[in-house]
Amino acid sequence: MATANAPSVVGPVPFADVCGARPDPGPLPKEPDDDDDASAATAAALPGDARRRLRWYQGTWVARVCVPGVVAIRQGSFAPRRGDVVLASPHKCGTTWLKALAFATMARGAYPPAGAGHPLLRLNPHDCVPFMEMLFADGSAGSRKMGALPSPRLMATHMHHAILPASISNNPDCKIVYICRNPKDMLVSLWHFTRRVQPDLAFSDVFEHACEGVSFSGPIWDHVLGYWNASKESPETVLFLRYEEILLDPAGNVRRLARFVGQPLSPAEEAAGVAEDIARLCSFEALRGLEVNTAAGSGSLLFPNGAYFRRGQAGDWANHMTPEMARRLDAVMEEKLRGSGLSFA
Ligand code: A3P
Repeated sequence: MATANAPSVVGPVPFADVCGARPDPGPLPKEPDDDDDASAATAAALPGDARRRLRWYQGTWVARVCVPGVVAIRQGSFAPRRGDVVLASPHKCGTTWLKALAFATMARGAYPPAGAGHPLLRLNPHDCVPFMEMLFADGSAGSRKMGALPSPRLMATHMHHAILPASISNNPDCKIVYICRNPKDMLVSLWHFTRRVQPDLAFSDVFEHACEGVSFSGPIWDHVLGYWNASKESPETVLFLRYEEILLDPAGNVRRLARFVGQPLSPAEEAAGVAEDIARLCSFEALRGLEVNTAAGSGSLLFPNGAYFRRGQAGDWANHMTPEMARRLDAVMEEKLRGSGLSFA
């Protein structure tokens, strides 16, 4: 796969330090508008609120604002480089956390994780690692910004594995780190997040749609299965992580991450407690407490940085779902994942 030359500084460096503010999706469209892409017929069948936000693209639900970026990426706007690392996830499954962990792990040479000047103390993780869909929606500016980042570069996507360009999915020079989460907790997190811009949204609506496959990153079973299967086929290029496992052993997963990206912790780093330092720096409590990550911390137009830090635990679904709802979603997931070796039970 084609591999371009990188600038001489060693990455990853915070995206915002090189390219300025992260791309902003702008305000929510006020009215459903179905005339802007080929998925109009499918989108038209959705209730109005979902229609405003989602588009059916190549068998996957994509946030409407991301469709131009996805198309551009698939049409070749993304020029891969040896050492690129793509963080992939469904919405609300710990992307912010993974961005922080991966950045702190890969950049630990330039930025010691216990140092007072660490970028994560002044920047939200989304300002350190950009979303590709948002970046490439910005026309040629996106390619220019990606090109300005030193290697190894870190970037993120919510795209399903099935719609990644071959420059990512079939490229031994590019690694993918995936994070997913119990879908019940994902939906609760998604509901809380979406209610910030749609206060009257009922949890039952989010739940019903998701059971039918309609959600951000949906169908959720296809999202996880795509990366699960890829990680089984190619464990050296796709690392499959689970939010709950990282909660149980953050430092152990920092070590996994470091090994996977080809930067295992040295004996000296182990003796110095570097994995634990990274886990501490990126912990929910530490990040949420920073001024940049409070409600006032500027984020996008719709979501302040504080919106990405709510509860940070596993099992909140039990406070929102009836046992019947939980059984139903579990059954849907079990049926869809049957035979794959993957389970969320
Ligand atoms: P909850 O809403 O359950 O609290 P994403 O980053 O993909 O948008 O996911 C957001 C979820 O990850 C939210 O879950 C958020 O609180 C949680 N989260 C964010 N940062 C975290 C961290 N450092 N550690 C653990 N969870 C974190």
